[in-house]
Amino acid sequence: MQHILILGGDGYLGWPTAMYFSRRGYNVTVVDNYFRRNACTELDVGMLYPVPTLQERAKIWHEKTGHEIKVVIGDLTDPEIMRSLFNGRVKYQWAVDHAFTGIPDTVMHYAEQPSAPYSLINYKYANITISNNLLVTNNLMFALRDYNRDAHVVHIGTMGEYGTPNIDIEEGWLEIEHKGRKDRFLFPRQASSLYHTTKIMDTDLMWFAVRMWNLKITDLMQGPVYGIETGESEVDDRLKTIFNYDEIFGTVVNRFITQAIVGYPLTVYGQGGQTRGYLNIKDTLQCVEKSVETPARPGELRIFNQIMETFSVMELAELTRKVGRKLGYEVQIKSIENPRKEAEEHYYNPAYHGLLDIGVIPHYLTEEVMQGMFRVVEEYKDNIRNDVIFKGIKW
Ligand SMILES: NC(=O)c1ccc[n+]([C@@H]2O[C@H](COP(=O)([O-])OP(=O)(O)OC[C@H]3O[C@@H](n4cnc5c(N)ncnc54)[C@H](O)[C@@H]3O)[C@@H](O)[C@H]2O)c1
Repeated sequence: MQHILILGGDGYLGWPTAMYFSRRGYNVTVVDNYFRRNACTELDVGMLYPVPTLQERAKIWHEKTGHEIKVVIGDLTDPEIMRSLFNGRVKYQWAVDHAFTGIPDTVMHYAEQPSAPYSLINYKYANITISNNLLVTNNLMFALRDYNRDAHVVHIGTMGEYGTPNIDIEEGWLEIEHKGRKDRFLFPRQASSLYHTTKIMDTDLMWFAVRMWNLKITDLMQGPVYGIETGESEVDDRLKTIFNYDEIFGTVVNRFITQAIVGYPLTVYGQGGQTRGYLNIKDTLQCVEKSVETPARPGELRIFNQIMETFSVMELAELTRKVGRKLGYEVQIKSIENPRKEAEEHYYNPAYHGLLDIGVIPHYLTEEVMQGMFRVVEEYKDNIRNDVIFKGIKW
């Protein structure tokens, strides 16, 4: 049985990934230090509904399905915690069988501070973001170097690494001809937040480790994800992933739907021409699965752009208004002064066929899909706090 280690397994994407692979017969271990939950508590940004602890979720999953997800609670910026996952010194906080599962075949690296606004609250949060994200990635590279160069790493990067260049965005790499000679380089990257800058630095750390130690890494440049339910969360309501709708941790589609339900005018920044690639949480799961099934080669940093379609912010707001109105909500759109420093009108033409080529079948953001999300969020309408929807963290 393949062993998959998921770093950041309590998160919005990590927990659904754990259940997805567990259900498909993989041996799954999750690691998390509750960074995300603690940050939400510290910053007082409520989640839509409470979620059980990671240990409780693993227990519920086991009761309902008979599958075991081993749980480690620990901070991966500590190199000894990272190394314990490879050298057998690990202590599981929850497991059916507490014996060491063995060295992982695949490591999913999701364990990062994932919010651009968080990274720009002030210098303190900037430092937390930089040190957390880079130390986790570097600790992982050295653990692999020292214990298991054969493991395949699937890291989630971000399309935000590329920024919005005035040329087509390729999948990670660009062949450049200069003074009559050619070479292949990482596609030029220019992030527009400190969080995104750490993701660029991750890519550089991983590219270094691949060149030096022949590691096998797939880096998925992901766009903002939307959605709540996955096939596995239907097993029990308590297994639904965390859902944020606030300005710091909420992603735009999730936020707009929540705003529509409580009658808060949709917060479009500036003219809303910012165009990005998006994907359904179900497609994140498919993308990582296909990446695991067809791993990168030793010495390869394979990069895919993990998006399924592109929208401008205004297009998303209009879709939310249309769907909301059909469901009886009086949805307003409000253009507000943009707290971010970003282009509101720009060229955007990313390539994203690599994941489709290895078998991913996209779920698109149709009116029906959005209606389904409205139906879930409205169940928790009474929990929604207007005061966390927009605070205007400035760049
Ligand atoms: N959600 C999106 O729309 C999106 C888009 C692009 C990229 N990504 C990337 O995908 C990955 C997962 O994102 P997410 O939305 O699930 O975020 P998340 O915050 O929900 O998940 C990350 C998890 O990692 C954990 N973590 C962070 N630092 C840790 C540490 N030092 N030790 C142990 N655990 C730690 C957090 O507690 C959290 O549970 C991130 O790397 C993020 O940058 C997410």
